[in-house]
Amino acid sequence: MKIFLYGIRPDEAEYLKQWNALNPDIETDYTDQIFTDETVDLSKGYNGVVLLQTQPYTRTALQKLHDFGVSKISVRNVGLDGFDFKDLRDLGFSLTSVPVYSPNAIAEHTTSLILRLLRRVPEFDKKFANADFRWFPTIGEEINGKTVGIVGTGHIGSVVARLMMAFGAKVVAYDIKPNPYLENLGIYVDSLDEVLKQANIITLHTPLAKRDIHMIDEAAFAKMKDGVIFINAARGGLVDTDALIKALDSGKVGGAGLDVLESENDVFQKKFDKISDVKDPQFQALLNRDNVIMTPHTAFYTTTAVHNMVFDSLNDNVKMLTGKAPKYPVDISEN
Ligand code: COI
Repeated sequence: MKIFLYGIRPDEAEYLKQWNALNPDIETDYTDQIFTDETVDLSKGYNGVVLLQTQPYTRTALQKLHDFGVSKISVRNVGLDGFDFKDLRDLGFSLTSVPVYSPNAIAEHTTSLILRLLRRVPEFDKKFANADFRWFPTIGEEINGKTVGIVGTGHIGSVVARLMMAFGAKVVAYDIKPNPYLENLGIYVDSLDEVLKQANIITLHTPLAKRDIHMIDEAAFAKMKDGVIFINAARGGLVDTDALIKALDSGKVGGAGLDVLESENDVFQKKFDKISDVKDPQFQALLNRDNVIMTPHTAFYTTTAVHNMVFDSLNDNVKMLTGKAPKYPVDISEN
């Protein structure tokens, strides 16, 4: 049995080596390139593929994969918005994901964005670099006593809820499908609007379903408290970025922590010579603000997470290829 992996970084290659040592009967090969119309030919002759990328999976590449006789795809991540499930259905693919590689990785990163904004770390960093070690006027705020609004309470959102409660925050949460493990905490409100109205800090933890594109638009920002801290470590497309920029300009949003951006595929995971070479106007409009922290989609990026992404995706690909039930099958019947 032969499995081909796309988009493998050196840190993943180490975990792949470990997995290979435990699974000597399975042949694997990989490329550091992502899965595209140009690279799909690399998987010819293999039985299954394992993928990870934020770029969309094209119908053309999937069609070729199907023509090569590959029907089992495992992705090493949780978000599936790069696929049009209709393509997968039409071409007869089975798909697995890794939905719980490490909810803590993203929840802890979210917490760090909140803390860095509340304690005005970007401003202190600038002052420090200028040998200005005075406190005033860069006074901070605490999570303790704040109301934190959580949109989406799956694996990640529920860890964020517990972390925020441990800090002493009041948590208000909304999800179309409340998490039964959280219902006894009394955190759920009846609508997204209620979260937007009540929270001092709002953080998004939902997948990007088509109906949720620009879930946070101009009207949503208008409903928020003045000076709200807004965090997005989920998907850039959930937010109308131009509306966010306006809300930052007006002071409606007092601080934004962004691990994802609508146009991130033109920017993140690339190396530019200098920051002014990044031509994306939304990125440039968000840059160099004392109250905006951007990280390049790194919330997931911990050793625990990467280990589990590699191991769980390969284990499930093997399960599918050997006719066994995978641990994390994806229901592709609609999206
Ligand atoms: C995900 O797991 O969906 C992420 O956002 C992480 C990234 C490696 C794509």
